[in-house]
Amino acid sequence: MAARAAGGGRRRMGAAVQWNRGSRAAGALLRALLFCLLGCGSCWGNSVEKKIYIPLNRTAPCVRLLNATHQIGCQSSLNGDTGVIHVVEKDQDLNWVLADGPHPPYMVLLEGELFTRELMLWLKGTSRISGLAVAISKPSPEQGFSPGLKCPNDGFGVYSSEYGPQYAHCNWTTWNPLGNGLSYEDFNFPIFLLEDANETEVIKQCYRDHNLPQNGSVPEYPLCAMQLFAHMHAVTSTVTCMRRSSIQSTFSLNPEVVCDPLSDYNVWSTLKPINASSGIAPTDEVIIVATRIDSHSFFWNVAPGAESAVSSFVTHLAAAEALHKVPDVQMLPRNIMFTFFQGETFDYIGSSRMVYDMVNNKFPIKLDNIHSFLELSQVALRNSSVLWMHTDPVSQMNRSIQTQVKTLMDTLINSSLGANMTLQEVSQSQPLPPSSFQRFLKAQDIAGVVLADHRTSFRNRYYQSVYDTAENILMKYPEGLSPEETLDYVTDTAKSLAEVATVVARALYQLAGGTGNTSAIQADPRTVSRMLYGFLIKTNNSWFQSIIKQDLKGLLGNEPPQHYIAVSPLVNTTQLVQYVLANLTGTVVNFTKEECLNPEKTSSSEREMYDYTWVQGSKDPNSTSRVPFCVQSTVHITKALSPAFELKQWGSTEYSTWTESRWKDIRARIFLIASKELEIITLVVGIVILILSLLATYFINAKAHVLFSSPGDPGAVAY
Ligand SMILES: *[C@@H]1O[C@H](CO)[C@@H](O)[C@H](O)[C@H]1NC(C)=O
Ligand SMILES: *[C@@H]1O[C@H](CO)[C@@H](O)[C@H](O)[C@H]1NC(C)=O
Ligand SMILES: *[C@@H]1O[C@H](CO)[C@@H](O)[C@H](O)[C@H]1NC(C)=O
Ligand SMILES: *[C@@H]1O[C@H](CO)[C@@H](O)[C@H](O)[C@H]1NC(C)=O
Ligand SMILES: *[C@@H]1O[C@H](CO)[C@@H](O)[C@H](O)[C@H]1NC(C)=O
Ligand SMILES: *[C@@H]1O[C@H](CO)[C@@H](O)[C@H](O)[C@H]1NC(C)=O
Ligand SMILES: *[C@@H]1O[C@H](CO)[C@@H](O)[C@H](O)[C@H]1NC(C)=O
Ligand SMILES: *[C@@H]1O[C@H](CO)[C@@H](O)[C@H](O)[C@H]1NC(C)=O
Ligand SMILES: *[C@@H]1O[C@H](CO)[C@@H](O)[C@H](O)[C@H]1NC(C)=O
Ligand SMILES: *[C@@H]1O[C@H](CO)[C@@H](O)[C@H](O)[C@H]1NC(C)=O
Ligand SMILES: *[C@@H]1O[C@H](CO)[C@@H](O)[C@H](O)[C@H]1NC(C)=O
Repeated sequence: MAARAAGGGRRRMGAAVQWNRGSRAAGALLRALLFCLLGCGSCWGNSVEKKIYIPLNRTAPCVRLLNATHQIGCQSSLNGDTGVIHVVEKDQDLNWVLADGPHPPYMVLLEGELFTRELMLWLKGTSRISGLAVAISKPSPEQGFSPGLKCPNDGFGVYSSEYGPQYAHCNWTTWNPLGNGLSYEDFNFPIFLLEDANETEVIKQCYRDHNLPQNGSVPEYPLCAMQLFAHMHAVTSTVTCMRRSSIQSTFSLNPEVVCDPLSDYNVWSTLKPINASSGIAPTDEVIIVATRIDSHSFFWNVAPGAESAVSSFVTHLAAAEALHKVPDVQMLPRNIMFTFFQGETFDYIGSSRMVYDMVNNKFPIKLDNIHSFLELSQVALRNSSVLWMHTDPVSQMNRSIQTQVKTLMDTLINSSLGANMTLQEVSQSQPLPPSSFQRFLKAQDIAGVVLADHRTSFRNRYYQSVYDTAENILMKYPEGLSPEETLDYVTDTAKSLAEVATVVARALYQLAGGTGNTSAIQADPRTVSRMLYGFLIKTNNSWFQSIIKQDLKGLLGNEPPQHYIAVSPLVNTTQLVQYVLANLTGTVVNFTKEECLNPEKTSSSEREMYDYTWVQGSKDPNSTSRVPFCVQSTVHITKALSPAFELKQWGSTEYSTWTESRWKDIRARIFLIASKELEIITLVVGIVILILSLLATYFINAKAHVLFSSPGDPGAVAY
């Protein structure tokens, strides 16, 4: 430009004059256009300026899980799905979404009671919705709600065409009749749970302000819209995604993993310490007590599991504490193993792995060491204090097993005499409910009993749902208690679970060969209260604070804890069960911090038999510091990863194959959107302005020396 400007000054001057004249005209035009745009802009300003996003902070997504053959769960498109919000509070409101509404696709805000199978399958079939937000219903739905299966873990228990075919596929008893199977459906739109009533109200207010049809006429833009992001990387099945990761990992340094197996750790301990590296003698006998510690719901990491998991493992922990207090317990002929299985909800991940390890000599205890098996299934909702004893009719066709089962049941019944509960046997020809014990029976005939509060189908009306909370097991606290008082407040639920724990502890003592008086064995209702509070209401309580390691404060929170297995090892529940078990069954030893953290360096010969934990201790009310100490216990953890992944049999029908898809972005937000036409006009006007301004810039730039030079200034000399 400079070169061109250097030549022909005269012509240039002429051109400049011309441009000046032309520019004046163009400027006027531009000014007029700008005025016009600003004028219009102010009337559109409402929609354009208010396009402010409000993030939703308390939501839980439904994510994609995969098994050997199917994908289940939900997902959004890559950049999230958007739709105009429509609140559906009763069935009729759906007409607008499915037929009448002029602004599809819609984001449906659904009331919790309407979240049923019929309605969801109906919505699945339409293209008029882009997603769903479900408001949690308070109180819980009257009629019950379970998104699990009618026949949980079907096909992975012991009953099959070879073993009790008449019992396979819940032919005999439908354990979870309320199960609508929604968790096992595949949805191609995002579904989020709105956990906070105040946030739901914010959305509803936005809907009422902008989207409500007024006097029968169609609502006008701008409308309130919601956008949900939950794009999932994995598709089709575990076989597909694991094969892809495995091929990539052979060729690439940074394989792109799209799914991960559900896995965590089982927690176990023994009454008498055992040498975990050498194992126990083949002649030693062990009684296994078992419960599951995980649960599930339709939504990711929402799994309160009060009745389905917490009440049982809390009872189990209380029984372990009661037994450890018995003076002669180290002298009993048989050992007792307290076992807490993780991932049982997903086709018995934890128990199938422990059996696999026992069979393959990777566990200190072998199947042949197992004397008998006692499992605590759902126990909190007893009807007139009856606890039912479930047994397996098939293995009892063997006389010797039948005799052992009979002894087991007699011992349990004897232990309940004098307690405020009765134990009853279910019909001899009824199969076992879904239980970890089935995985052991699958490998070997073992005498065992599963204790439950139901005779046939579950009494739990909220099995594997967001409503299986403390209210479901009737936990009630008086008004106005401080957190500390609530922690120690003994609820009726705690009393009744402590009774079950007492009966279990007494029966175990006798089964282990104890001959002393059992009436002194007593589970502590206060411990049960504290555990129920910790595992259902708030983990950040003074007791849990005092029994964990110092660097694990992140485990504790003020929200009700969730018991989903997840994919990253050592989830909150597993670690907390581990520390509670250590606190209840361990002893405080006089070790320094160094000795406690490196027990192998101490001279004590017992270090192989024990686990040592340096816990932070409790806070003295008058001081701000804690006094940490060392706890010696027999608590161990072992991997709960399905053997299918160990064996790379991703299409296994024998072992669980559940994996969870990976994702990048999960979030939800609401905002106002303008109409499509307005957006197009805005875009076109924007482009026109852009072109005009580019042109203007070009010309102004080209003639800058003329436009911005002061009169009489000799042009190029400015530099
Ligand atoms: C979520 O948090 C942000 C930032 O604190 C806040 O601006 C927004 O209003 C919250 N969302 C809702 C729905 O309350
Ligand atoms: C995978 O899950 C689907 C949906 O629940 C089920 O129908 C199918 O039988 C499962 N496949 C296997 C191999 O368990
Ligand atoms: C909801 O809002 C009310 C009133 O603003 C407040 O008292 C209450 O604590 C809020 N609830 C939650 C769960 O934030
Ligand atoms: C709806 O109709 C009623 C009665 O016909 C009228 O009073 C009201 O102003 C109308 N509302 C709107 C928003 O037009
Ligand atoms: C535990 O087993 C290991 C390996 O067999 C052995 O070396 C060790 O002495 C045993 N410890 C005890 C206390 O028996
Ligand atoms: C019955 O079970 C016992 C112990 O498990 C076993 O030794 C025996 O062989 C079984 N009897 C029959 C007939 O299967
Ligand atoms: C573990 O607990 C902490 C505190 O409550 C919470 O922030 C975190 O999300 C929990 N982790 C999982 C996997 O639930
Ligand atoms: C847990 O409670 C203590 C008070 O007891 C508090 O100082 C701490 O911030 C809480 N932790 C979390 C994660 O809320
Ligand atoms: C268990 O926790 C309680 C309360 O914090 C404490 O007093 C006790 O010493 C602990 N016991 C063990 C063995 O850690
Ligand atoms: C604990 O050990 C220390 C040194 O190891 C010793 O001085 C102290 O007396 C011991 N305390 C008790 C109660 O045994
Ligand atoms: C804490 O301080 C109060 C008053 O200063 C005193 O009465 C109480 O005994 C102290 N408690 C402990 C455990 O030291």
